[in-house]
This record gives sequence, structure tokens and C-alpha cells, in this order.
Amino acid sequence: MAIKKICCIGAGYVGGPTCSVIALKCSDITVTVVDKSKERIAQWNSEKLPIYEPGLDEVVGKCRGKNLFFSTDIETGIKEADLIFISVNTPTKTFGNGRGRAADLKYVESAARMIAEIATGDKIVVEKSTVPVRAAESILNILRANHRPGVSYQILSNPEFLAEGTAIDDLVNADRVLIGGENSPEGHAAIEELCKVYERWIPRANILTTNTWSSELSKLAANAFLAQRISSINSLSAVCEATGADVSEVARAVGWDSRIGSKFLQASVGFGGSCFQKDILNLVYICECLNLPEVAAYWQQVIDMNEYQKSRFSAKVIESLFNTVTDKQIAMLGFAFKKNTGDTRESPAIHVAKTLLDEGAKLHIYDPKVEESQIMEDLTHPSVTDHPENIKRHVSIYRDAYSATKDTHAIVLCTEWDEFMALDYEKIYAGMMKPAYIFDGRKILDHNALQRIGFIVQTIGKKLARTAVSRSWGSQSQM
Ligand code: UDX
Ligand code: UDX
Repeated sequence: MAIKKICCIGAGYVGGPTCSVIALKCSDITVTVVDKSKERIAQWNSEKLPIYEPGLDEVVGKCRGKNLFFSTDIETGIKEADLIFISVNTPTKTFGNGRGRAADLKYVESAARMIAEIATGDKIVVEKSTVPVRAAESILNILRANHRPGVSYQILSNPEFLAEGTAIDDLVNADRVLIGGENSPEGHAAIEELCKVYERWIPRANILTTNTWSSELSKLAANAFLAQRISSINSLSAVCEATGADVSEVARAVGWDSRIGSKFLQASVGFGGSCFQKDILNLVYICECLNLPEVAAYWQQVIDMNEYQKSRFSAKVIESLFNTVTDKQIAMLGFAFKKNTGDTRESPAIHVAKTLLDEGAKLHIYDPKVEESQIMEDLTHPSVTDHPENIKRHVSIYRDAYSATKDTHAIVLCTEWDEFMALDYEKIYAGMMKPAYIFDGRKILDHNALQRIGFIVQTIGKKLARTAVSRSWGSQSQM
């Protein structure tokens, strides 16, 4: 069978951009992205897409209405498709067995049940959502247990490696595409069909095929390795602050070794995002279920180090401000979990904001892409506060960095947005209370220049002298 129609269940950060790029690269394939949320689909069909992703508007603009469609008609989407991606969310379970760690597969399961009910003919079902190892088997069990004559299924695992903020480039110029399938002639044939879709723009040598479980585990492993590098450099940032070493210099020296490589060694306030924590917790839970407690403890430490980093940074802010922030006005620059996205899932900014609010601070928050309603939703969530009405009184959202910082005691920078490097800090300093503090949680500012202006500066992984010093050699900071 040659793939002519693709349906994707789940129009989120993964499903939307992935299918938009498939539509762009395969003009002969009709791609329909379906979602149970009417609001989300309406946004995908409007001028203001539901997610901010550089380059996405252009791709959607080129394909929407031609071979790319967004719809709430899940039934027709499934019925007509040769190949179905499951891209629904797989949150961490909040109750029952595996609470707080295991992936909740209820949405994947309901997608599989829907396919079992509706599908006719041969279908290739592809898990795109990150799932625990052997989830494909569960999907297959559901599909085969509800088997109807004339319908046959192949399940593939095709995990997504895109990072938010660079999703379009990651999809168009993917390092690799991974496809896992059943080790049988039918399984191989299904893998081949999906290969043919990606081969339109990805060199065949970069399309890796494996068995299903290797593919599922590779996704968890890739995220665990990436997060581990951040926790490793963050652990050393604490040593740097205590010794006078500079973590950027250490990262540069370490990363110069081609066996180690220079990427993902940027010390920070901590990693966030929808995947790292969730996937590692999932890996830890799987290891415990497999009676591998040592392996579970090893990976758990990556999460624990991240929690430590977020707490350490928040504690540093409070300590520096004479051990109390009660009623102090603090500007928070950046709320997204990284630059170039409006996504706040697991953002370290939430942790920092919660700690400062618990200590009685008044927050002035500005992020270039996060909506006000999202910030308020995150900070009034039951996991953050029992008193949402207090939060609303203590948090104000601003539309630019200058008004957010005006009349504040301190600036806490949580996201590495480029525009924060280009701000006029002389002007900001003039509008602030004195002494004016700045805490750079991303190590992106020119700390010496800020000190010369008069700021008291603190950052990650570097002990800064209180007085202004001339720009140090080898410093990578810029402004
Ligand atoms: C999510 C996970 O975060 C990621 O780990 C996984 O690999 C893929 O799913 P993301 O696309 O970022 O990634 O999730 P989200 O933006 O929440 O999108 C999921 C979409 O699925 C939502 O729009 C939701 O409405 C939709 N959905 C969910 C359905 O259409 N049907 C369901 O039953 C459940
Ligand atoms: C990640 C993976 O990179 C991607 O392959 C996978 O499919 C989904 O999860 P994402 O979470 O979108 O993507 O962003 P990523 O760029 O990996 O950043 C995750 C977090 O780590 C961010 O909070 C970022 O600021 C932080 N980070 C990243 C650092 O603190 N230091 C670094 O050196 C790199």
C-alpha cells in the first residue's frame, strides 16, 4: 500500500508541527490533524496558531487548505487514513499505581479504542507520543482484541526528537528519524511505507529502523542523556560558585573534547519542558517495575539535581536580598521554559516564582511570548498554592521589560530570550530601587558591564566580586 492519507490524533506541540512539515514535503499526501478540542482546532484554522514556533506560520500558510487540514472530525480522519499518528499527550499519572512517575496512557488507550471501533481496511498505526517501553504492545492488544473482519493493523514506534523553539528546523533537517516495528514481513513492510514518507527529505542513511521496544526505549534514553548533561554541568556550577571557577570556562574546556562535544552544557536555573522530567520519571518507574533499583536510583539523581538547582537559585535570591523578600518588588524576566517558545510546562520560572511568593514577594512578570492567562493558571495551580486569591494580588504581568522592572528591588532572569541581552540596562537601573540587584539564571548577560552601571549581580556557576571589574578575558558573556 502506498500512503496517500495520513491522520494525526492530537494537534499539540508535537502533532501540529510534525504534520505541517510532512504536508510541506509530501504534496501528494493529504494530512489531516484531528483533536478533541474544538478551541485548539479553531486556532489551527485561524491566523493566530495555538503555539508559537519560529517558521511554523509560514509552513502552515503554504499547506493549509491544500493538503493540510485541521479538524475535530476524528472519526472521518481515522476512517480515511492509511496511516494514523497517535500524538496525544502522555502526562505523568497523578493518582493510583505509579502516581507522580508512571506515564498516564489513558489518552493513548482511548485513541487506540477509537481506531479499533472506526477503522476499516489496512491501517498502520504509529505511536508518536513518548510512551513507556512496550506500550505498542498494549495498543496492539486493544486493536487485535477488537478485531473485525477485513481490518488489519501494524503498529510502529516513531518517536519525535524535535525541541520546541527549533521544531521546524529539527523536523526539516532531522539528525535522524527512528522507526521501530514488528520483526515480521508485515512489520518490515509497514516500516518501509513510513520510510518512504520521510525519504522525501531525509537521506535514507539517517532513517534508523529497529525493533519496536528499542525505538520506544531510545526516546526515553535520548531525553535522559540530554537532561543528564544539564544536571552534570549544573552540579559543577555549585562547585564553581564555591571555588571561583567559572562554569562557562569549564564547559568550554570539557566540551572541546570531541568525545564529549560542546552542546547541552549550558548551566542554568534548571531544565524544564514537557519531556525531560516526565520521561526520566517514566524511565525510573519502569526500572523499578523491572526490579532494577540501582538503575532507577541512578536516573532519579538527574531529576533530584535539577530540583536542587532550582532551589539553590531561589535561595540565592532570597539570601542576597538580606534574607527576606517580604513585600519586596521583584521583576521576573522570562517565564517560558526556554527561549523561542510560549510553553511553560515544567518551567523553572514556576518554581522560582512559587518560592519567592511563599516568602511574601510581589512579582512583576514579563515574558515576550507567554500569555498572561497562562502565567496566572500556572501560579494558581493547586500544586503551587492553596490561596489563588493571594497570588492574584501579588503578581502583575507586564508587556515589556522596562515597565516590569520599574520601581523593583531586583531582577530575576529565568529565560534566555535574546531581547534580554539587548535591553538598555542603564535606563532600567535608573528606574529601580537601590541597591539594585540582578540575578541571571541563564548566564546570558554581560555581568561586568552591569556591575559598572551599579547593579549587584549574581549568576549561576560564577562567583562575582561585588565591585565593578574590567571585562575578564575568555568570558563568553555578552549583552
Ligand atoms: C505530548 C507529550 O508532551 C509528549 O511527550 C508526547 O511525545 C506527545 O504528546 P504535545 O504535543 O506537546 O506532546 O502535547 P499537547 O500539546 O498537550 O497536545 C496533545 C493534544 O492531544 C491536545 O491538543 C489534546 O487536546 C489532544 N488530545 C488529547 C486528543 O485529541 N484526544 C485525546 O484523547 C487526548
Ligand atoms: C527536548 C529534547 O531536546 C527533544 O529532542 C525531545 O523531543 C523533547 O525534549 P525541549 O524540551 O523542547 O526538547 O527543549 P530542549 O532544548 O531540550 O531544552 C530543555 C530544557 O533544558 C530547557 O529548559 C532548556 O533551557 C534547558 N537547557 C538546555 C539547559 O538548561 N542547558 C542546556 O545546555 C540545554
